[in-house]
Amino acid sequence: MAKITASAYTSHVPAIGAAMDHGKTGEPYWQNVFTGYEYSRQWLKDNPPDVIFLVFNDHATAFSLDFIPTFAIGTGPEYAPADEGWGPRPVPMVQGHPLLAAHIAQSVIQDDFDLTIVNRMDVDHGLTVPLSLMCGQPDAWPCPVIPFAVNVVQYPVPSGRRCFELGRAIRRAVESFDDDLNVQIWGTGGMSHQLQGPRAGLINSEWDNQFLDRLIHEPADLADMHHMEYVREAGAEGIELVMWLVARGAMSDAAGGDAPEVKHRFYHVPASNTAVGHLILEEPL
Ligand code: DHB
Ligand code: FE
Repeated sequence: MAKITASAYTSHVPAIGAAMDHGKTGEPYWQNVFTGYEYSRQWLKDNPPDVIFLVFNDHATAFSLDFIPTFAIGTGPEYAPADEGWGPRPVPMVQGHPLLAAHIAQSVIQDDFDLTIVNRMDVDHGLTVPLSLMCGQPDAWPCPVIPFAVNVVQYPVPSGRRCFELGRAIRRAVESFDDDLNVQIWGTGGMSHQLQGPRAGLINSEWDNQFLDRLIHEPADLADMHHMEYVREAGAEGIELVMWLVARGAMSDAAGGDAPEVKHRFYHVPASNTAVGHLILEEPL
């Protein structure tokens, strides 16, 4: 049987990808961000997953106002890094896991979540920057990735509660797959940031750290937070944090088991226009 062994959470700031792609990670400004991921890169090498289920959002790159899926699962064999206006990032192709992805689609849709099936899509910084942060600059990503896109760009967005419940359904789906696969689930995006309008540049460190505390200790309560609170307190783009609740809902304590172990926690301001937050939670043995 496949099982979820850990969850990881990280911001996905595009400038972080650019800093890596252009060899600037050693500069003082960026050093402060990347030291927070040194532990994580070693941890990922020591705890190699067979598959990463990566919850992210597309930023009007693969999708547009033409069609806006609330939840979309990548069931394709591979995904190319997207051209977001300055050429595709020089990072490896992302290999998919069509068999597990199709199984999860079947199980989660029969579990009453409406997913859009995506067989072909280019993946933007929402997906590639978390991979870069966690894996560095390898010739190939360490394992197949199932991209799972959540609409947090165009209103209406899904509630935190629905994202958390979706995570629980994803856990049930993974645990009903016959092959012995070690699956990690990553929640990405956030933390507080607002990219446009009069409040552009908004950062709320106190709120972000409270979010991290609550994500660890009381995720079911946190899931009840109204979407307007994210926007008011964490900025218009702070709503990306609902994606962290998908990953958190897939941990064993959300299914009546023991709480996960906090392996790593990191928070830093600023990186470009945003706060960077990062957590690694391991399932109890
Ligand atoms: C920026 C873009 C993002 O999608 C994000 O999540 C954080 C920051 C940016 O353009 O700086
Ligand atoms: Fe984003």
